[in-house]
Amino acid sequence: ELGDSVTIIVLGASGDLAKKKTYPALFGLFRNGFLPKNTHIVGYARTGMSHQDYLERITQYIKPGDNNEHKSKIEEFKKITSYVSGLYDKDEAWQGLDNAVKKSENDRKIPSGNKHRIFYMALPPSIFIPVAKGVKKNVYGHEGVNRLIVEKPFGMDSESSNHLAHELGQLFKEDEIYRIDHYLGKEMVKNVMNMRFANIFFSNVWDRNYIDNVQITFKEPFGTEGRGGYFDDFGIIRDVMQNHLLQVLSLIAMERPISTDAEAIRDEKVKVLKCISPISLDDALLGQYVAANGKPGYLEDETLKNKESRTPTFAALACHINNERWEGVPFILKAGKALNEAKVEVRIQFRHVPGNLYGGSARNELVMRIQPKEAVYMKFNNKQPGLSYQTIQTDLDLSYHKRYTELSIPDAYESLILDVLRNDHSNFVRDDELEAAWKIFTPLLHKIDGKNKKSAEGKDSGDDLKITTYAYGSRGPAELDEFVKSHGYDRTNAHYSWPHQS
Ligand code: BG6
Repeated sequence: ELGDSVTIIVLGASGDLAKKKTYPALFGLFRNGFLPKNTHIVGYARTGMSHQDYLERITQYIKPGDNNEHKSKIEEFKKITSYVSGLYDKDEAWQGLDNAVKKSENDRKIPSGNKHRIFYMALPPSIFIPVAKGVKKNVYGHEGVNRLIVEKPFGMDSESSNHLAHELGQLFKEDEIYRIDHYLGKEMVKNVMNMRFANIFFSNVWDRNYIDNVQITFKEPFGTEGRGGYFDDFGIIRDVMQNHLLQVLSLIAMERPISTDAEAIRDEKVKVLKCISPISLDDALLGQYVAANGKPGYLEDETLKNKESRTPTFAALACHINNERWEGVPFILKAGKALNEAKVEVRIQFRHVPGNLYGGSARNELVMRIQPKEAVYMKFNNKQPGLSYQTIQTDLDLSYHKRYTELSIPDAYESLILDVLRNDHSNFVRDDELEAAWKIFTPLLHKIDGKNKKSAEGKDSGDDLKITTYAYGSRGPAELDEFVKSHGYDRTNAHYSWPHQS
């Protein structure tokens, strides 16, 4: 436990992630009294800027409050933060940061033993290791605990990820490292375990005998505009599937942990990931968006270097979990940029009712809406009220915005930084979990990369990997419905739609 003092050092303080996520989350915690009483935040980056410019930058994305109390909290928050600029590859620069942190610790009269330091790396992956080295050598605290928060991408494939893990492991102990997957901080994702393990009516139906297929869907209505440089090396699979969607999958599919202890949970996640075979080409549908409705296609992005790029911006991948609980139940991960809507959800489709008295009644589905508008709802067959005896599909609906009107849901980053302060690793990715995750995707990613490389050289790779197209703003590739159907998804009663859809 940290007690009441800490210094939070934001590395990459002038970057996008820091200003959009890290600082607003730190402010959220500060405003609600969740930062230790004696906290100071030091930003560090190469950009030279005045204290005033720094303060403006880090508060730019804090939502303007509607009252004076909020405004005065922002002013108080500004007082607990300062900025140091310096290079990432020079010992003298890191020592400058160390001196600034020491001075702040002394000014705040923190006793030895309590000089805790949390390092938040909001940095591009190419400098993870040099920065971690510089920090360990020059800024690591010897009079308190140290914690290091790192953000994806954790490598590009199994090999590079293992290399990164090895290098980081030389510098920091596993229990000092917090690998953020911000999906684990989302309210509905945190709810998966409560829902599964605190409700008896799910325990006995949560397997191959009752569940036919599972879909985990991520849809964004915007393309990669302006981020093409980054995105093109990664593609949708590395960007959101190998991490965010797979994390959700492991929570849905894992066995019951022996306790809610971080290691107990992560042990179960690793176990289930190890049962998933690498995704084969037959189980993948890949696509790239093209211009439509006045919106540019992926290849028209000016920040894109390879104008012949074959990087997928959409993928539907069926994962097979080879264990007693799930054999034969496809878990379909679907993710795409530039689609028709913003939506992230888990959809569990149950089997047909055997010997059904009511003939073709639709399958039950349990849907967990992760965003927007958190909800859990169950597609459910009911007698048509009134004189009719017809069975109709309806829903049992727990929509958070209606049921929990008094509560505001914290941002994922807020919740995760609080976990770091509390030394709770449950919602962070462990090294062996990462390794198991990469094994599932690496062969497929290598095939895509190979194809991409050939196309950059103007050659046809001649392999059987097909990358289809879809229009900006559409539901995705035309082949998608057939793909999910071939993996068992039954769309009977397609006319039904959940009333809170958007
Ligand atoms: C990030 C991806 O990890 O997650 C982005 O790099 C994506 O491409 C984002 O847009 C989605 O996060 P959220 O919280 O907006 O759903």
